[in-house]
Amino acid sequence: MRDQTHFGNRSVPLSDKQALVDDVFHKVARRYDLMNDLMSGGLHRAWKDALVTAINPPKSEREFSLLDVAGGTGDVSFRTIAAGGAGARATVADINAEMLGVGRERTAERGLDHAVTFVDANAENLPFPDRSFDAVSIAFGIRNVPRIDVALAEMHRVLKLGGHFLCLEFSNVDVPGLDALYELYSFNVVPAIGRAVVGDAEPYRYLVESIRRFPRPNAFADMMRAAGFARVSHRSISGGIVALHSGWRL
Ligand SMILES: C[S@@+](CC[C@H](N)C(=O)[O-])C[C@H]1O[C@@H](n2cnc3c(N)ncnc32)[C@H](O)[C@@H]1O
Repeated sequence: MRDQTHFGNRSVPLSDKQALVDDVFHKVARRYDLMNDLMSGGLHRAWKDALVTAINPPKSEREFSLLDVAGGTGDVSFRTIAAGGAGARATVADINAEMLGVGRERTAERGLDHAVTFVDANAENLPFPDRSFDAVSIAFGIRNVPRIDVALAEMHRVLKLGGHFLCLEFSNVDVPGLDALYELYSFNVVPAIGRAVVGDAEPYRYLVESIRRFPRPNAFADMMRAAGFARVSHRSISGGIVALHSGWRL
């Protein structure tokens, strides 16, 4: 039997998942950043700020290179450049040409062409030499990747020794009361906002379902260790709506 995986709640052949994911982000690319604000009530900004604080780009002129995998329209990269000094550089790697296209336009508008570069790349096969980056991040991206173990190994490979890996991902709400509210919101409100803003509820139904299927924080921490990361830790933010995972290449 062919290897199976999940696309949302549907069981699909592993080899079909990436094309289905690409279709989702193809549909939402133009409205992606607006939708993030609407769906999270602006909270995604605080979550990304927590990620950038952990990336901790130097404020000095010291060179610092971030690789933001599944970086989409470049949000995490822009925030990292804004937080860092003159030596900070970011590379956005994403598999979706539409998301990269929106990101390139935003980079030009902000006059950041010298600092942020966009590369068409699959997280499972990164086109960078071993030990290239001071930090590697992935925000709300890893659950979309068909072979998470392969992507984690790749992100470990391209980190310099002493480099920091950070993964921000939706998690499991663990606050009594908030969990039921979150469930109701995710399965009803989010697809409805998607229908109103993007004209299609399906991509957002997929996003909500894929969050439910993503491994729990402790299981994901084990996958990070298996990929070679050391000093693995995680913390939950906003009552467990998201988790920030951290690991080092030592
Ligand atoms: C929810 S968006 C997150 C974008 C951005 N990191 C952010 O936080 O705003 C997920 C991104 O993962 C990208 N993606 C999905 N599968 C990928 C893969 N195998 N390799 C690289 N990027 C991928 C999609 O194209 C999309 O841009």
